[in-house]
Amino acid sequence: SEIEQAVSTGALPPGPDIDAFLAQACKHAARHHEGAVADYIPVLAAADPEAFGLCVADVDGGLHEHGDTRVCFSIQSISKAFVYALLCDALGHERVLEVVGVNNTGLAFNSVIAIELNDGHPMNPMVNAGALATTALMAGDSADRLWANVRDGLSRFAGRALEVDDEVYRSEAATNQRNQAIARLLESYGRITRDPLEVVDVYTRQCALSVDARDLAVMGATLADGGVNPVTGERVVSAEVCRDTLAALAANGLYERSGEWLAEIGLPGKSGVAGGLVTVAPGKTGIGAYAPRLDPAGNSVRGQIATAYLSRALGLNIF
Ligand code: DON
Repeated sequence: SEIEQAVSTGALPPGPDIDAFLAQACKHAARHHEGAVADYIPVLAAADPEAFGLCVADVDGGLHEHGDTRVCFSIQSISKAFVYALLCDALGHERVLEVVGVNNTGLAFNSVIAIELNDGHPMNPMVNAGALATTALMAGDSADRLWANVRDGLSRFAGRALEVDDEVYRSEAATNQRNQAIARLLESYGRITRDPLEVVDVYTRQCALSVDARDLAVMGATLADGGVNPVTGERVVSAEVCRDTLAALAANGLYERSGEWLAEIGLPGKSGVAGGLVTVAPGKTGIGAYAPRLDPAGNSVRGQIATAYLSRALGLNIF
């Protein structure tokens, strides 16, 4: 594949110097200009297609950064991974598996037909249907309480109070009729039992939370560290929940390209349409990448190539 080719032609730097590996991974990935910045959420089209940041956060709290690691972007679908973890922690994994599922759809992240083909089951927490079902199950009897729980939980993963990018929120809220339709469809199957449009609104806010590559690395490192944020020292979720979340990411984190990703990188990861990508090396590190040009499935092209490089250079592949 394109990624395999890109990785195999990149020369590894000598010595185990992680900063040199990061620089080399970025240099190697920056040769790639394919892919396109998302524009179905209008404001995302304004992103700088050349922005590129890569950060590694170790489970001992060490941070390594290269490039635009402090440039903010909306977390988008990457939020799904962490809301899923919070829900598993609150409800227990048996119940969440039953209601949300964990099998890949083989179809696009915003597929409606996948729901119909599966008798109204949302299938997995990383596609929009499953993410809406996940957010709907979070605690909070009012929309405000629901939102506060989602935001606080994601902030604990990041180790700081995350804020919504209002421009992104408004842009998506004005154009998210498809997600509204998905939520209504799930309601019709009894899969969402609270106000579906409130759920879509909270989900849209959760996707509009502003992060940088360093935040993603720390969030990933929290999953790598068995649920303890290695920077703040706070336990966010249990170790069992991390295991369940990483399995869901391995199966579904890069949508219909999840198999290809796992074959190349060998680590659980999650992408977002703003160009973010988080990857988890269990027991070792979280990797946060930001590069807005996406492959046809909605995954950062340079983020995947740089992460593949790091996975090989640092021997992170879990298989
Ligand atoms: O619901 C949506 O369409 C967006 N808020 C998130 C989609 C997304 O990030 C897909 N990812 N690669």
